[in-house]
Amino acid sequence: MPLKIVTYPNPLLGKTSQPIPEVTEEIRQLAQEMGELMYKSDGIGIAAPQVGELLRLVVIDITGPEKREGKMVLVNPTVTPIMEGGLVESEEGCLSVPDYRAKVKRAGKVHVEATDLDGKPVSFDAEDMLAICVQHEVDHLDGKLFIDRISRLKRMMFENKLKKGTRQSQVK
Ligand code: NI
Repeated sequence: MPLKIVTYPNPLLGKTSQPIPEVTEEIRQLAQEMGELMYKSDGIGIAAPQVGELLRLVVIDITGPEKREGKMVLVNPTVTPIMEGGLVESEEGCLSVPDYRAKVKRAGKVHVEATDLDGKPVSFDAEDMLAICVQHEVDHLDGKLFIDRISRLKRMMFENKLKKGTRQSQVK
């Protein structure tokens, strides 16, 4: 069955994902399909819970679906902010939160540790869009969405908009 994007307010998106004990063929297959879905959906990152799998697996390509030059698969990733990077604010969106974007503050620079699809450890420092993207995706693994990081007022406006949208589609 082809993978499908799980969208808010599906409770799966609020759950904590489990570490992957071993990179199996199944995990490689899942990562491959997640990558394809990410490109098809015009995203630059996707996390396993977004396709209904509560596993600590993310796929990122900040070069986007046109170029596809920077695909990165991270198994069990962790991110640690690097102090000197400070905080940066940028507009984010999410495949699981369609038709909504908002500004979010995050660390401008982070250290990332993970395992690759060969089961080998990888570690690197990231800044700018890659740093933001990794933090956004790792948030998914902890059951957190970017809308959990916006002001209470903005969140309220978002929820109202969502309710109205649901009502409209029920009328149709
Ligand atoms: Ni997202």
